[in-house]
Amino acid sequence: MNSLVKHNAILRAQFTTPDAFLIKSLLDLDTIDLILRELLTIEEMREAGSFFTGQKLATKAVSSLQKPITFSSVVLDPTCGAGNLLIECSRKLGVESTLSETLQLWGRVLWGFDIHLHFVEAAKLRLVIEALNRGVIQDCELDEACGLLSNIMVRDAMSIESDHLRTVTHVIMNPPFTIWPSPKNNYWKDGKVNAAGIVMDKILRNIPEECSFCAILPDVLRSGSRYNGFRDFVSNYTDSSVEIWGRFNRKTDVDVFLLYGKVHQGSKETQWHKSEYVSTCVSDFFDVRTGPLVSYREPKEGNKYPYIYPKNSPQWETLTKATEFRQFKGLVIEPPFIVIKRTSSPADKYRASATIINFKEPVAVENHMIVVKPKDGRISTCRALLNKLESQQVNDFLNERIRVRHLTIGVVKEIPFCKDK
Ligand SMILES: C[S@@+](CC[C@H](N)C(=O)[O-])C[C@H]1O[C@@H](n2cnc3c(N)ncnc32)[C@H](O)[C@@H]1O
Repeated sequence: MNSLVKHNAILRAQFTTPDAFLIKSLLDLDTIDLILRELLTIEEMREAGSFFTGQKLATKAVSSLQKPITFSSVVLDPTCGAGNLLIECSRKLGVESTLSETLQLWGRVLWGFDIHLHFVEAAKLRLVIEALNRGVIQDCELDEACGLLSNIMVRDAMSIESDHLRTVTHVIMNPPFTIWPSPKNNYWKDGKVNAAGIVMDKILRNIPEECSFCAILPDVLRSGSRYNGFRDFVSNYTDSSVEIWGRFNRKTDVDVFLLYGKVHQGSKETQWHKSEYVSTCVSDFFDVRTGPLVSYREPKEGNKYPYIYPKNSPQWETLTKATEFRQFKGLVIEPPFIVIKRTSSPADKYRASATIINFKEPVAVENHMIVVKPKDGRISTCRALLNKLESQQVNDFLNERIRVRHLTIGVVKEIPFCKDK
């Protein structure tokens, strides 16, 4: 993190010897992520979860706040980094004729916390330069100017309590997506939890009723089966909406969504997924499970069975004869059934790449496959589902429901399917 000192020195220099070209890039919300990537190691960035919100996403997040930002607002970014979201919020505020008058007003509205001093410094310096860039008269020293932004400070977001946040009217945030241990007490999940869920939870428990919020969160919180508890918690505490965004930026391969609304207890259900109009789904006609054979763990002992894994399962084909065999003592599956590869991405042409297995003998299926076995034992039911899985409708359904790379049993069970259509 010390390499940020260099970056902050460049920011400071703009106060005495401004360079218009440099100022443009220092205030550019897309460039800061690239600059920091050059200064910090990828490990430092990952550890801090410091991937900064680009311009388009920042604009979308600020415009999703349900109340306008005015000089009577108090807008908190609890994990503010180098201040991208705060800068975007400041663009909703007017300026006075001088720097000091402007920052006095901005300083009351804009609150930011971060655990890294150099990020906090960068956020303040960039806001000072942003104000100058908007044409105010420079009437005070840099330290005085930064001092007017005293609500942007080094602070652990996990240490805040409701008393500190009594006057907060808006929260905007893009918390770290690293993995933290669960706070456990009165919590929706034990073990390891995505930090974004923990920070979101902390904020929702401590901001005042009716406070407007918008958070940029990893898609796993919206679609992962491990986060049902998080979703129930948010639904109970808020009136909120969800908007899928897609990949965070070109360099960061994580899909994100926006969660926005207001704190409101006893409120309406959050709609995490688009509603579906088909009334039956895969689990009405099929049993769905993960392949039982974990290849690195299972000894090659027991009877020899046909062996199915992703590489020997060509998509959309029906296999009637086994080409590979393996000894296995565990559970084998009686055909006919469908296997779906568990790993896929929204960038793939097909999300549910599937194959029908119609051998005469039971089969050992590896755990990177999802086994979908018709309850009526009929190959025609498998064919009907294979056709359906190849459709754009299923791609759209899965891309909307699960942006993370692993299909889950839950989401496959919920694929809309009606045998006669
Ligand atoms: C993904 S960045 C987002 C920064 C900024 N809000 C933006 O959108 O560009 C997350 C930030 O959270 C900070 N952070 C990590 N743990 C924190 C904690 N416990 N309290 C406050 N900030 C934290 C990191 O230092 C990092 O700057």
